[in-house]
Amino acid sequence: MSESHLFYQTTSRRPRVARSEGIYLWDTGGKRYIDASSGPMVSNIGHSNPRVLAAMKQQMDRATFAYRLHFENDAAESLATLTASLMPEGVDRIFFVSGGSECIESCLKLARQYAVVSGQASRWKVISLFPSYHGSTLGAAAVTGMHQFVEPFRQMIREMPKIPAATCYLDRDELTHEERGRKYAAMLREEIERQGPETVLAFIMEPVGGASTGALVAPDSWYREIQNICREYGVLLITDEVMTGAGRTGRFLASEYWDMQPDIIAMAKGFAAGYAPLGAMAAHRDIVAVVMEHGGFAHGYTYAGNPLACAAGLAVLDELIQQDLIGNAAARGARLKSMLTGLMDRYPFIGDVRGKGLLLAFELVADRDTMEPLPVELNAHIRLVEEAYQRGLIIYSRRTRGGTIGDHFMVCPPLIVTDADLDEILRLLIDSLDAFAKSAGLPTTPHKVTS
Ligand SMILES: Cc1ncc(COP(=O)(O)O)c(C=O)c1O
Repeated sequence: MSESHLFYQTTSRRPRVARSEGIYLWDTGGKRYIDASSGPMVSNIGHSNPRVLAAMKQQMDRATFAYRLHFENDAAESLATLTASLMPEGVDRIFFVSGGSECIESCLKLARQYAVVSGQASRWKVISLFPSYHGSTLGAAAVTGMHQFVEPFRQMIREMPKIPAATCYLDRDELTHEERGRKYAAMLREEIERQGPETVLAFIMEPVGGASTGALVAPDSWYREIQNICREYGVLLITDEVMTGAGRTGRFLASEYWDMQPDIIAMAKGFAAGYAPLGAMAAHRDIVAVVMEHGGFAHGYTYAGNPLACAAGLAVLDELIQQDLIGNAAARGARLKSMLTGLMDRYPFIGDVRGKGLLLAFELVADRDTMEPLPVELNAHIRLVEEAYQRGLIIYSRRTRGGTIGDHFMVCPPLIVTDADLDEILRLLIDSLDAFAKSAGLPTTPHKVTS
């Protein structure tokens, strides 16, 4: 391999991509990979969709860039109208960005500016969860609960208060699932009181956890309670649907499962499904109206509302709706979840399978009864991914518990996935798990679950 001048999180090298189609990618050596994680949970409608490519080409032939302070453009207007129609009642003002981190910055700043202009300038603290991931920019890092992405920058950011995510699957108490949900939600109330309610601006959360928790779903009671608490204290609710949005969980927004009424919603990733760097903030019209009355939103990006990106986004959402890919995510997701759960019989070191729709993950543990994680030095989160990669299966992993210990694996194929595709994914995953278990010296005999 020739020297590369690129660097990202590490300098490790990967094969070079030659082309992609549907759920597959091929490298320049001709090897085929199943994209069973949709990249980092992005490629919701699969790769190289001809209708999306045609829509982009059509837009390219008209104009690829027209600055929003100089021109409006059809693609951005149509995409905003369609997006607004998919949002909860009243959350119908749309602000386009180029990705998830930009979107979170926009949510935080819109919330803050709203407080400033509406006579609540004492409110600036944004409570979030630990673990959580909201992005890599400094503002997003301030609300992110993952040590390795925050630690080096701690001095540079104004870190925000965190409460524990509802990791009920780790709890060994006498409470019911719903009681646990209320227990975790009560921590939000306690934190608001501890911080001083007049200083708390917002609560930000991923309705279904992303890469930081591995598709964590809280008890229903948690969602109900946190909404009530936010309302009671006048704290804005920001739902980060960067990963969960655009159908990934089997609903357009994951928060629909709990009839949530957020004030501000962040979307990116599947929103344009990798065809263009694009995200969208949806905000309640009353919030935007007040900010606009007071001189406008003091925030913006050069590429906001880029016509080419918006044409891609519009075609992606069209495809999601026309092909009922959200319905497919719900149906295929239910099957994939039961297939992954079935693996627990064969692999006693799978401690939990969780998620909704096609946002699914399984977590490896040393002991299923105590949920003690595998030894850190085993580096399971790297080794199993590599076993799968060798076999042409792409899955996505992270350390689970704050980013330092625990190993979870996201199995999140594109929403176009078929039952036959799922069978192939499972076969390759079993081969990979067998090879990993063998090399790590872990048992593969059936295990009786006692709790
Ligand atoms: C829930 C969530 N929010 C925000 C982000 C940041 O998005 P981006 O990487 O596009 O900046 C991510 C990325 O993984 C995410 O999963």
